[in-house]
Amino acid sequence: MQKNDSLFFSVYFSVFSVPLWLVLFMRSEMDHFEYRERKLHCEHVSIDELARTYGTPLYVYSEATLVHHLGQIQKAFAEADPLICYSIKANGNLGIARVMAEHGSGFDVTSGGELYRALAAGGVGSKIVFAGVGKTDDEIRYALENDVYLFDVESEEELHNLGKVAATLGKVAQAALRVNPDLPPKTHAKTDTSVKGVKFGLDIETVMDVARGVLGHANLKVLGLHMHLGSPILDPKPYREGSAKAVTLIEQLRKQGHDIQVLNMGGGFGIHYRKQEAAPASAFAEVILPAVRETKCRLVLEPGRFIVGNAGILVSRVLYRKESGGKRFLIQDAAMNDLIRPTLYGSFHRIWPVAPAEGLPAPPEDYEADIPGTSPIEVVGPICESGDFLAQNRRLPPLQRGDLLATFSAGAYGMSMSSNYNSRPRAAEVLVTGTGHRLIRRRETFDDLVRAELEV
Ligand code: LLP
Repeated sequence: MQKNDSLFFSVYFSVFSVPLWLVLFMRSEMDHFEYRERKLHCEHVSIDELARTYGTPLYVYSEATLVHHLGQIQKAFAEADPLICYSIKANGNLGIARVMAEHGSGFDVTSGGELYRALAAGGVGSKIVFAGVGKTDDEIRYALENDVYLFDVESEEELHNLGKVAATLGKVAQAALRVNPDLPPKTHAKTDTSVKGVKFGLDIETVMDVARGVLGHANLKVLGLHMHLGSPILDPKPYREGSAKAVTLIEQLRKQGHDIQVLNMGGGFGIHYRKQEAAPASAFAEVILPAVRETKCRLVLEPGRFIVGNAGILVSRVLYRKESGGKRFLIQDAAMNDLIRPTLYGSFHRIWPVAPAEGLPAPPEDYEADIPGTSPIEVVGPICESGDFLAQNRRLPPLQRGDLLATFSAGAYGMSMSSNYNSRPRAAEVLVTGTGHRLIRRRETFDDLVRAELEV
């Protein structure tokens, strides 16, 4: 698809002469999962073939989509030459993280384990930022030994402890103060990190006092200001408000004597879950770049979902159908242990058959519309909880035992939040590149389930 781009463009323009903006819009939304001859493909590989090769449930990722979305951010923010730190919590598979490192990304980590992954994937300390409210001394030491670029510090006590641990190693820790800018709610309450009363960051009115307390500290350099507003955020406006508050704080911190060089605006950019609903990277750049120009800071961004969310789907197979209590149920082999977002946050993921039979409707553009040929059904998994569902009251075409389903936009916080609940081995993960595909995580076995236990 990518290879033929220039040919595609010239043919397209000469034949159809469609306005440039429309083509560019289509290009910017591209995710490399598309139906060809009624069969879902990832890049040039049929999903049906992948399911037969690797089994289900199966996470399938598109490398071209990963690179495309990273590129969208790199391009939109190019003026600032930002340090983009892929937020590895969104999807930490080494195969994916390696693609990020190879394309110039750094990493945002939030635990020693994530730092380990980032380094194993080829990340270097000078391009790693470390956030999180509860960094242990061991994790801080591990990060200092690997010369991480920035610690995003979330409390006064943590800041002083960071200085203490750095002193024991004879190092100077570079810190960005994470501030909670106290903005109105903008996403699900469980993932909104910039409203008053959440555990993240320093209350905005306390930042100057906390900063004063470490002026001249021999082992701490307060180098930046950090903000992560929440996730996912569809509307760029809160970034305008947040970054305006950051500009004021940076001026005050500089007056106080801190050499502030970095503005870290975190991640959180929304993606397409229901329909083409996400703002492009350029819309976020438009509201963030003015703060970079004004402060002349180096910009750090920590996108996770924007890069990997639309780059992955979860493929499952229908096991049974049943009716009970006046509802229809579609029982398939992916469960809340594979993708917990629907039951944890009430999240919506598009779901559609991998190979819709002749006469069945095409995948809808808008899942909120009434789709002819479909009827409502509960899409559930095998786990022993009533909360085990991928979708509720979802309109789907008729399906049969053995049919494959694709759950879209599952690349971020799908596998990374998976578990072994009900002693279900975790799904396999496969990365597609053009016409090729390779397993980047094998399906777990029953032996894997008990591997860490001591009385087997
Ligand atoms: N930076 C920090 C400090 C964060 O806490 C996060 C996400 C990110 C960056 C990356 O945010 P992103 O660009 O991926 O939106 N499990 C939830 C999302 C939790 C997000 C946690 N922090 C979900 O499935 O929606």
